[in-house]
Amino acid sequence: MADFSANLLAPIKVCLLTYGCQMNILDSQVLSGNLTRQGFTIVEDESEADAVIFITCSVRDLAERKVLGKAGKLNVKRRRRPEVVLGVTGCMAELKGEELLEGKNVFDFVAGTHKRHLIPEMILRALCRRVAAAEVTAANAEHIERLGKALAPYMEECLASEGSLLAVGKDPMSFGLDELEAMRPRPWQAFVEIMRGCSNFCSYCVVPYARGPEVSRPAESILSELRALAVSGCVEVTLLGQNVNSYGKDLPAGSMSFPELLKEAAKIEGIKWLRFVTSNPQDISDELISLMASEKKICRYLHFPLQSGSNRILKMMNRKYTLEGYLEKVAKLRAAMPDLWLAGDLIVGFPGETLEDFGETLRAVEKIDYANNFLFKYSERPGTAAARLKDDVPLEEKKRRHAELMALQGRLTHEHLKSLVGTIQEVLVEGRSKRNRDVLQGRTTHYANVVFEGDPSLIGKFVQVRMESATPLTLYGSCERLTGEEKLTDEKETSGI
Ligand code: SAH
Ligand code: SF4
Ligand code: F3S
Repeated sequence: MADFSANLLAPIKVCLLTYGCQMNILDSQVLSGNLTRQGFTIVEDESEADAVIFITCSVRDLAERKVLGKAGKLNVKRRRRPEVVLGVTGCMAELKGEELLEGKNVFDFVAGTHKRHLIPEMILRALCRRVAAAEVTAANAEHIERLGKALAPYMEECLASEGSLLAVGKDPMSFGLDELEAMRPRPWQAFVEIMRGCSNFCSYCVVPYARGPEVSRPAESILSELRALAVSGCVEVTLLGQNVNSYGKDLPAGSMSFPELLKEAAKIEGIKWLRFVTSNPQDISDELISLMASEKKICRYLHFPLQSGSNRILKMMNRKYTLEGYLEKVAKLRAAMPDLWLAGDLIVGFPGETLEDFGETLRAVEKIDYANNFLFKYSERPGTAAARLKDDVPLEEKKRRHAELMALQGRLTHEHLKSLVGTIQEVLVEGRSKRNRDVLQGRTTHYANVVFEGDPSLIGKFVQVRMESATPLTLYGSCERLTGEEKLTDEKETSGI
């Protein structure tokens, strides 16, 4: 793979702006690692950057509008620094391709979801063109001088060649190319990709078009990454795929299934908690349920998206289960793990969704008693099967249904949190609380959000927290001790779980 580090004679500062799901967060971590290895400097502040790369999402119209709005603003700021490069990658880059290079000339390059390895070179090419064309003013003179130094070995060749600044196409990127380079901001916590793409074609969803068909990563490649992570101090791993339950089905006969992979992952010493997303109800197996029940490292939280409580709508969505089938799976999960918390995704206002259909969704949510739900207003996505249906639920009505579900889910979430008050729970400390930097924030096995007082040295560690109160989204508690160690306080332990 190309490596520019030997030749970059001055810093080139790159800022990554990440939108969308965990896949994009991981892609962004991999890209950070790759760029750093090649001598680029990653900066947090976009106003400092020589190149800003958007890692985009297209799942809903709003996700795309956010990117275009932000890019438009940065484009205006280029009046002062015309040499700054704006690049785009991720799902929107893949789907829109050349269109993003036309029109207002906002983006300098477009790299699709399978082309991220080309990004360092594209940054250099685009910067050479911009620096060569930029007018030097008091506002950018220093930057131009620095960039001129950095780009000197490339300038002539870049300007002479017509090298493309557009790379899309889903010829799958091979595994093992760059994922081991991921730079994780919290080294004790890692997303690990176990498959790419999706072949399910739910009628509303753009992901199969943006990410290509489902391709599983060979088990040995995953397990060796997990072992390396464990050695470097990682204690919590979240395995990523659009449909982890179909992991391995595209691999040669004799390859591991998802439960077999999880079982091997759980054997790795050092990794204490295992999570995975997303688990499509159509493919969850009894084998997975019994493994979850017997393997204590697998967290008691399952993301299990229903999408709608109406069988008529589920069919139109091309989801391959009925509400009854889903409820049966939930019953099996709960029988095997009474302490399991369930989360889901729901779409309101799918084409043709009547009040009766919506009522079925409300009843299903109440019955399933989710701990959490991600609620979305249907957004028509060009090129999908559902785009051929009339988007006939008015926006106002979508908002109303969304708000009604939010209120219901809010109540259920609060109830779940309240049920832990009075117990002592193991918590992985994630950092300082965003709202109050003087206290710590962490998560339980159920992914419940917990805030408590403690020393920042506890960040990245497992602690035992006594839960004292619950607001609608957060538990408040007091830290008793590090897991497996003596108490931090000498208060008497009164209750357990
Ligand atoms: N692979 C996951 C979902 C990934 S997309 C699964 O099948 O469970 C995340 C969520 O976005 C979906 O579960 C769905 O609820 C929502 N979503 C996808 N396309 C959408 C659209 N066109 N409009 C509104 N929400 C959508
Ligand atoms: Fe989209 Fe369905 Fe694939 Fe999930 S399973 S990514 S909702 S097509
Ligand atoms: Fe968005 Fe692509 Fe993820 S469309 S939700 S970033 S797979």
